[in-house]
Amino acid sequence: MALRQIVYLPEPILRKKTKPVTKFDKDLQVLIDDMVETMREAPGVGLAAPQINLPMQLAVVEYAEGEDDEENEGKELPKKLYVLINPEITKVSDEKVVGIEGCLSIPGLVGEVERHEAIQVKALNRHGQPFKIKVNGWMARIFQHEIDHLHGVLFTDKATRVWKPSEDENEETPLD
Ligand code: NI
Repeated sequence: MALRQIVYLPEPILRKKTKPVTKFDKDLQVLIDDMVETMREAPGVGLAAPQINLPMQLAVVEYAEGEDDEENEGKELPKKLYVLINPEITKVSDEKVVGIEGCLSIPGLVGEVERHEAIQVKALNRHGQPFKIKVNGWMARIFQHEIDHLHGVLFTDKATRVWKPSEDENEETPLD
């Protein structure tokens, strides 16, 4: 496995639409493993292919539900890893929630973004098999942020407020 170079704004690839993945070969497996390693190293809870300069419909997400809750501080919560290939959001909740997001490709900025509280996604796994998943809460936020990346959309496009967190302010919640 190897770390991949993360690209930053204003790198044009971050604004491009991506292409569906059609080959589920060995190279793809290596790429996915590299993306997981790069996400963990960053560290982030998600990484989309355009963020490593590849125009592909591929993202990885790894997050432990509840890891940002105060009551879970210091606890090792089980993390869930998802590989999303050619993902599509098929259902969204009417309920929306506001949360603070950041992005590995936009260092030093965070923003307040409204997202659907719950979504249903259909995608392919790393072997090309289709699956459907319902996610809510913070996991749904991460999924929406990553799927936006695959359409050239960044959190700053949707944010109602964007700011640079100061060091002593504990407002930063980097997403990917
Ligand atoms: Ni991002």
